[in-house]
Amino acid sequence: MKQYLVIGASSGIGKDLAALLIRSGHKVFGTYFRHEMTSVETSPEYHFLDVKEREFNFDFLPDSLDGLAYCPGSINLKPFHRIKPEEFVKDYELQVVGAIKVIQAVLPRLKKSESASIVLFSTVAVQTGFNFHSMVSASKGAVEGLTRALAAELAPLVRVNCIAPSLTDTPLAGNLLNSPEKREANALRHPLKRIGAAEDIANLAEFLLSDKSSWITGQVLHVDGGISSLKV
Ligand SMILES: NC(=O)c1ccc[n+]([C@@H]2O[C@H](COP(=O)([O-])OP(=O)(O)OC[C@H]3O[C@@H](n4cnc5c(N)ncnc54)[C@H](OP(=O)(O)O)[C@@H]3O)[C@@H](O)[C@H]2O)c1
Repeated sequence: MKQYLVIGASSGIGKDLAALLIRSGHKVFGTYFRHEMTSVETSPEYHFLDVKEREFNFDFLPDSLDGLAYCPGSINLKPFHRIKPEEFVKDYELQVVGAIKVIQAVLPRLKKSESASIVLFSTVAVQTGFNFHSMVSASKGAVEGLTRALAAELAPLVRVNCIAPSLTDTPLAGNLLNSPEKREANALRHPLKRIGAAEDIANLAEFLLSDKSSWITGQVLHVDGGISSLKV
C-alpha cells in the first residue's frame, strides 16, 4: 500500500484518480476547495486546501509520501486583447505557483519514499495553438517547463511527469459542453470522435504515480483523442 496526496480530489480528474488509487488499495489524502467533502472508509481522507493561500498546513500527512498529483486548473478562454495582465498573473498563481508551493511543502516527505512520483497537468493547447487560449497556454507552458526542470533536479529520487489532456468532460469544461450541439461539435473535432472522460486522464495519472512507470520521468504525455498529432 502506497500513500498519495491528490490536490483537488473533489471534482473531475482528481476525484476519479483518488477513486482509482483507493480501488487499488492505497491510502489517499485528498483536498477540496469549494465542494466540501466528507471522509468515509472507502473515500480519500479529505482536507480543505486553498492553494492560493500563502502557507499550507500539511500536518495531516504522514512522514513519507509516495506520490503527489496537482489537479487545480482553469480554462479561461478570451481574445488576447481583452485579457488584463493581472488576469494572467492570477491564472499563473493557481496553475503554476500553487503547484510550486505544494511541491516545496511536501518534497521532504516525497524524498523519504523509495519510489516517489509527481504528476502535473498541462493542456493540449500548449503544443497546438488555439484561438483565445493565450492565458491557459501561458500558464500550462510554464507547468511543462517546470516538469522537465524538476524531473532533472529531483532525479533519481523523485520522478516528475505531466499529462496534457484535450477537452475532458468535467465541471471545469462545463461551459464548453453545456449543450448537445457543443458536445457533438467538440467530439467531432477529435480524430477519435469523442471528448475525453475524466477516467481517460485519471488512468494515465494512476500509471504515472505507480511503479509501473518507474523508468519514465520528465515527460509531457498527451491524452487527447489524437487531436494534437493527427490530421484525419
Ligand atoms: N477538463 C478539461 O477539459 C481539461 C483540459 C485540459 C487540461 N485540464 C487540466 O486538468 C486538471 C484537472 O482538471 P479538471 O477538469 O478535473 O478540473 P475540475 O473538475 O475543476 O477539478 C479541479 C480540482 O481542483 C480544486 N481546486 C480548484 N481551485 C482550487 C484552489 N484554489 N485551491 C485548492 N484546490 C482547488 C477543485 O476543488 P473544488 O471542486 O472543491 O473547488 C477540484 O477538486 C487541471 O489542471 C486542468 O487545467 C483539464
